[in-house]
Amino acid sequence: MSEQEDCPNPAYAYEPKHVDAIVVRAFNFEFPDDLAPLWARDNPVRSHMFNGFSLTMPYLEPYLIRSMQAAMKLINEPRLLEDIRGFNGQEARHYQCHRRLNELIKKNGYPELAAIEARLAASYQRLEQRSLRTQLAYNAGFESMTNGFTNWFIKKRRQLWSGNCPWVASFWVMHMVEETEHKTVAYDTYMACYGDYWPRAWGVLHGSLHVLCYGFLAMFVCLRKDGRWPSLGILRSLAREIGGVVWNAGPFLLRALLPGYNPRQDEDPQWQKDWVAGHRSLPAGAALPLLDTTDPDVPVPFGRTAPA
Ligand SMILES: [Fe+2]
Ligand SMILES: [Fe+2]
Repeated sequence: MSEQEDCPNPAYAYEPKHVDAIVVRAFNFEFPDDLAPLWARDNPVRSHMFNGFSLTMPYLEPYLIRSMQAAMKLINEPRLLEDIRGFNGQEARHYQCHRRLNELIKKNGYPELAAIEARLAASYQRLEQRSLRTQLAYNAGFESMTNGFTNWFIKKRRQLWSGNCPWVASFWVMHMVEETEHKTVAYDTYMACYGDYWPRAWGVLHGSLHVLCYGFLAMFVCLRKDGRWPSLGILRSLAREIGGVVWNAGPFLLRALLPGYNPRQDEDPQWQKDWVAGHRSLPAGAALPLLDTTDPDVPVPFGRTAPA
């Protein structure tokens, strides 16, 4: 087979990634059984917002894997196929851990989230009825947002995680570190199969807003259950937390909307590279160390003792 025939889009050519390999790690945080759904100190909006995003993952990420598996049947570029296998391996471990966290959040106070899960399941079933082009554009668009989340979680880690639950903080940060590790894969898969600009641009909005809206819906359900909605304090907090999403992820989405966009244009944060290098030094089978959220700097956790 000639190089031109390796992928459905003959204009596609594989480009090197920022990382040597997409490492499929054990992603198995053992959350305490009594984990508090309000894990962010004095910040119910932030707690419920991230819990809402977590709720979407066991529906989104299995769908991502299935659509990427469908794309693999069209692709003959071995390096991209290897990347997709790494992507799928990481996403599979993410959603299994999110599911455990979501079960605890429901059990420890918010069983009404199950109704939103039913809506999520139906919504992803409908998405899978759409064309593979639409699905792969959605995937590339969603993944451009996760790269923004990584930069946000790491660069603003002192404000986001300091003083808060180390399990939830460590879990979200590790998830986003791996999202940045595989940040090129969904984009490359769309480009290898199709490459057209307009469906990809629509996918940026479709993939990001779909997940954000379900996350916000779950957040409002929980705030209403708490009896916190509406109040002036909660409205201020909502403006701050939703503003944080827009301010930090928005520029990544805007860049992804440009015709010449490629996720390789975004440099990975040094803390993320240090995390990846630190994880490599973990002995095989060792438990994942938690972030020390009692340290105001929330440093890379490897080589440190996890907080009790
Ligand atoms: Fe993920
Ligand atoms: Fe991802």
